[in-house]
Amino acid sequence: MNAAPTPPKAELHVHIEGTLEPEMVFDLARRNGIELPHESVADLRAKYRFSDLQSFLDIYYANMAVLRTEADFRDLAAAYLDRCAEQGVRHAEIFFDPQAHLKRGVPMETVIGGLHSALADSDVSASLILCFLRDESAESAAEALRLAEPFLDRIVGVGLDSAEVGHPPSKFTEVFARARELGLRAVAHAGEEGPPEYVREALDLLGVQRIDHGIRALEDPELVERLRRERIPLTVCPLSNVRLGAFAELSGHTLPALLEHGLLVTVNSDDPAYFGGYVDENFDAVRRELGLSTEQLRELAANSFRAAFLDDRRRDEFL
Ligand code: HPA
Ligand code: ZN
Repeated sequence: MNAAPTPPKAELHVHIEGTLEPEMVFDLARRNGIELPHESVADLRAKYRFSDLQSFLDIYYANMAVLRTEADFRDLAAAYLDRCAEQGVRHAEIFFDPQAHLKRGVPMETVIGGLHSALADSDVSASLILCFLRDESAESAAEALRLAEPFLDRIVGVGLDSAEVGHPPSKFTEVFARARELGLRAVAHAGEEGPPEYVREALDLLGVQRIDHGIRALEDPELVERLRRERIPLTVCPLSNVRLGAFAELSGHTLPALLEHGLLVTVNSDDPAYFGGYVDENFDAVRRELGLSTEQLRELAANSFRAAFLDDRRRDEFL
């Protein structure tokens, strides 16, 4: 079920833990001697019916229990990078959720060491973005950043993910300031389920350079104008938005409206093992369901390099 070929592109919004396919959940459980509460791969996959972000996060965090060793994190990232190579993804900026692993007793060096070794061995250009869990405390985020300090040369930036509503960006002003002081780039999920105000906070209080999702920005014309004027990229994840209920059907997705407003939009997979496809399946789906032209698809692919944390010389090589 290969999707139609699409132009070379970058992926800027993918959670490495969200690339954990059900088959790998079972393989790693066996390797680590963990008993799973699922009868089979099919049984686990059948549980991937989500009504909103939280219903997805519950199973996303539960499945992470199989990720224990440096080899587990390496194998996970290597499998994703293999998919990148197959799908014409030339560059990937990959989120990871260290607090979810620290909480289970997996040290930061195991997580970053494993992920980094896969990146170092791959022909695909890739970097790591450490995400803070917004439904955990600001102190917990600060501790995660402190634990990552010995590995800063392996991280390009910080992000903010997990349950959005009730956890505004303002809660993380200090830790983002510290991350920027350390020379890291900054992004944040905002306007996925949360209001446009969270997008403003991410820009004004966290100093982010991209917004992840940002679909609800459309409710606020002044904000849309600002995003356009300041060329703030939005990393949009069409299949994710449908699976988590932001849109009843892909044909109702507002991606075309975002493009018509002149925004710097990119297409991404978010959590491909859970949402029905990697980046090419997302491109293919928006082409089919939203009737995007070849020209628009090419623009989306070019935007992914424009929005990437690449120096100008490398960006020009990709473009
Ligand atoms: N949204 C917020 N947090 C997440 C997601 C998402 O789609 N995936 C993994 N963590
Ligand atoms: Zn995401």
